[in-house]
Amino acid sequence: ADVHDQTLQRGKGGELHQTAGDGQPVLTTAQGAPVADDQNTLRVGARGPALIEDFHFREKIFHFDHERIPERVVHARGYGAHGYFETYDSLAAYTRADVFQRAGERTPAFVRFSTVAGSKGSFDLARDVRGFAVKIYTKEGNWDLVGNNIPVFFIQDAIRFPDIIHAVKPEPDRGFPQAQSAHDNFWDFISLTPESMHMIMWIMSDRAIPRSFRFMEGFGVHTFRFVNAKDESTFVKFHWKPKLGLQSVAWNEAVKINGADPDFHRRDLWQAIQSGNFPEWELCVQLFDQDFADSFDFDVLDPTKLIPEEVLPVQPVGRLVLDRMPENFFFETEQVAFMTQNVPPGIDFSNDPLLQGRNFSYLDTQLKRLGSPNFTHLPINAPKCPFAHFQQDGHMAMRNPTGRANYQPNSWGEGPRESPLEGYRHFPAEEAGPKVRLRAESFADHYSQARQFYISQTPPEQRHIAMALTFELSKVETPVIRERMVSHLLNIDETLAGKVAAALGIDPVPKPADAAVKTRQDLEPSPALSILER
Ligand code: HEM
Repeated sequence: ADVHDQTLQRGKGGELHQTAGDGQPVLTTAQGAPVADDQNTLRVGARGPALIEDFHFREKIFHFDHERIPERVVHARGYGAHGYFETYDSLAAYTRADVFQRAGERTPAFVRFSTVAGSKGSFDLARDVRGFAVKIYTKEGNWDLVGNNIPVFFIQDAIRFPDIIHAVKPEPDRGFPQAQSAHDNFWDFISLTPESMHMIMWIMSDRAIPRSFRFMEGFGVHTFRFVNAKDESTFVKFHWKPKLGLQSVAWNEAVKINGADPDFHRRDLWQAIQSGNFPEWELCVQLFDQDFADSFDFDVLDPTKLIPEEVLPVQPVGRLVLDRMPENFFFETEQVAFMTQNVPPGIDFSNDPLLQGRNFSYLDTQLKRLGSPNFTHLPINAPKCPFAHFQQDGHMAMRNPTGRANYQPNSWGEGPRESPLEGYRHFPAEEAGPKVRLRAESFADHYSQARQFYISQTPPEQRHIAMALTFELSKVETPVIRERMVSHLLNIDETLAGKVAAALGIDPVPKPADAAVKTRQDLEPSPALSILER
């Protein structure tokens, strides 16, 4: 309203009151009582003390005082959008998942992109993994594909997740650095975690500073299963391929952008969608069976490994289009609760130990963050298909079972019932063995794929990796950590290790790190991977 606004009236103390009328509704309390004056607390005389009787003031301040909820323990900074998933062709031969049965069918979806390490108010262009979490509201329940823009992960077992996240977040005594992996704790952990080397090559590459969310890939990372109507299983890896292709910024650009516009990625997505320039990704799959999995030297259950697309090409099976921004950031983007264990019938898990741990973790964290077991009652988290169960009560219950029966079986002819035919059937994989805390030997090669990634990069991209490692390790104050990192790099690429050692002034160059399996050449080359050598 400008200064000539007729609805503006001056109060006795010179304050401006804007009054209802002309189609503008009357301001009320949360209880619905109309409010006469929202500028002055109730007091004794114009200059006297405030009165505790002022229920409007009390309610307004009370609600404000409770606005914050915990930020996500990881991936705190994110940005979401609505859209749809469109199936290209029926995948009935592989999966009974309803979302993949009919060509051309569109299913509503919500996506949240994020950085991992920084807090909610950190900057967008951090060198970091980007979360790429997709919720597809299928006719048989929500399917959450909670992925990243990098196809592998730092660790092989979920039990290590608190350690890697503690190590990357600000150091507990000094509370910095914010949103920055360049510090001793992070590189200390990494240098003591050879399994992270493949992921480190990706993180030090241009992939970790994408130009925008619209120019990045997404990956389900783990091996999942498709299960068809005959209960036959096919292993599947999920990939999102951006229609615009892949683009990144250079590190010096990222640093400047962060200073000039810390919301660069948010603004980009907002502006693209608001101007009708809808970003799009193709969902692609790599499908394989147990025999194919057995042909690799590495284990398809190991989330630090990928199946090269040259060995097993990806097949496009659908597309994701983002065409609508949330009406309210908090209501949708902040309250959306992704969980890897949200799968419809026809999509199932493998024994990847990281995936198994994630399936356990996300339910817990949503309760902590959103504060009530009824977080599925929030519109952004509720399924968009019919659903019925006997869960009831709890904080903020918005829906309870109706009628007399809140249990089953019951004699009242009320309520939902089991359906062996339509219901979710877990794939009956045969499992046997001693109860042990033991990692499989098939997880032991930590360097081959790190090298494969490095040598697949163009010379300028390789230079960027060397520069990123040099910059990051130059921030590390403890010499032994830098040396340990160089000793790992020697198992990945000697030239790269030499460049980084020279730039950091490490002389003499340390010996290569001890490794159970150093390189793929130490093993018999597998028939599948030998394709890559040609
Ligand atoms: C959040 C991906 C590993 C625990 C997220 C989010 C993404 C993601 C994209 C953000 C979701 C959102 O936008 O709301 C991944 C990927 C992983 C991985 C791709 C490995 C391949 C793990 C592991 C754990 C874990 C191993 C724990 C055992 C969490 C937790 C959150 C989270 C607690 C916060 C969820 C929330 O408060 O909404 N993860 N994550 N993640 N992840 Fe993971």
